[in-house]
Amino acid sequence: MTDLLLLLDYLSDGQFHSGEDLAVELGITRTAIWKKIQKLNAILPVKIISVHSKGYKIKNPLTVLNKNRILDYLPAEFHSQLNQLEVLLECTSTNQYLLECLEQNQLKNGVVLAETQTQGRGRRGRYWVSPFGSNIYMSLSWQMGISIAEMAGLSLVVAISVAKALQKFGIDDVMLKWPNDVYVDGRKLAGILLELRGESNSPCSAIIGIGVNVNMPEDMADKIDQPWIDMQQLLKKQVNRNKVAAMILNELIPRLQQFNKTGFSGFMNEWEQLDFLAGKVINIEGHMQLSEGVASGVDKQGALLVEYKGQVQALYSGEISIRPKNLIRHN
Ligand code: BTN
Repeated sequence: MTDLLLLLDYLSDGQFHSGEDLAVELGITRTAIWKKIQKLNAILPVKIISVHSKGYKIKNPLTVLNKNRILDYLPAEFHSQLNQLEVLLECTSTNQYLLECLEQNQLKNGVVLAETQTQGRGRRGRYWVSPFGSNIYMSLSWQMGISIAEMAGLSLVVAISVAKALQKFGIDDVMLKWPNDVYVDGRKLAGILLELRGESNSPCSAIIGIGVNVNMPEDMADKIDQPWIDMQQLLKKQVNRNKVAAMILNELIPRLQQFNKTGFSGFMNEWEQLDFLAGKVINIEGHMQLSEGVASGVDKQGALLVEYKGQVQALYSGEISIRPKNLIRHN
């Protein structure tokens, strides 16, 4: 853990901590503590105050992400498979961070989480709103046993894993909008950004970025350009972000191992149960020939099947929207 995160961890209980005690805990001088508090105050939305003879105190207590608490929720076999699990106070994008580690050959299988992202990336070049200490911004780098050409459908499998983890928290009505949006009641709860690296015929690396809205601050609402929901609104209670991160990894890692063996075809049943678009009349953007149709499930590659004028076409990419006022298919 970096000193800044450690300091924040001590202060997160909302109690006063003297500069002297903090200096002993971190093994640095009181002046160094003071400097780090200034740095934290430049990043945090909730300020740390200092009161003479009492010390430092954070205005609103918060639960910070913590590597050891995440590891506690993971089975021992995953500890040995992960070469790295890192929590950062701030980064541009957790996907970008792992891509750079990969380029420097510093990583095989690893996870990174950040308390905030300054340039969080969404699909299709969108920006992913990433306020401090509120949500999950996590990326997993995983060395696959197969090549990029065989990776079709992986992003759907990641979405299934996230949905299964959310169901374990009691969010039963979670659905997946092809290819990998995680929805509840037509509002986005989580998003996935998959980036692949590798030579054409050799095993590739997958950088799997997952953003989950856990407790989105109200003042962020107008920055998000689509209907959204967060876990706290759904569950009506505080959510432990360390547990959310671990539960997602618990669902995801075994599925990555299975994907190496079966590809997407091994996950078609799970997808069918979560398919939000099935039977709905949809509009399609970014496809030359097809602009509308009825969503009719997915094929063995994870491509969306769309029925139009009696013909079924497989769609490998495209932005899907549901046609308003005509949601359910009529035969
Ligand atoms: C989407 O547009 O639905 C995908 C959103 C993916 C966001 C996550 S947050 C962690 C990781 N780092 C990023 O910059 N993006 C992904």
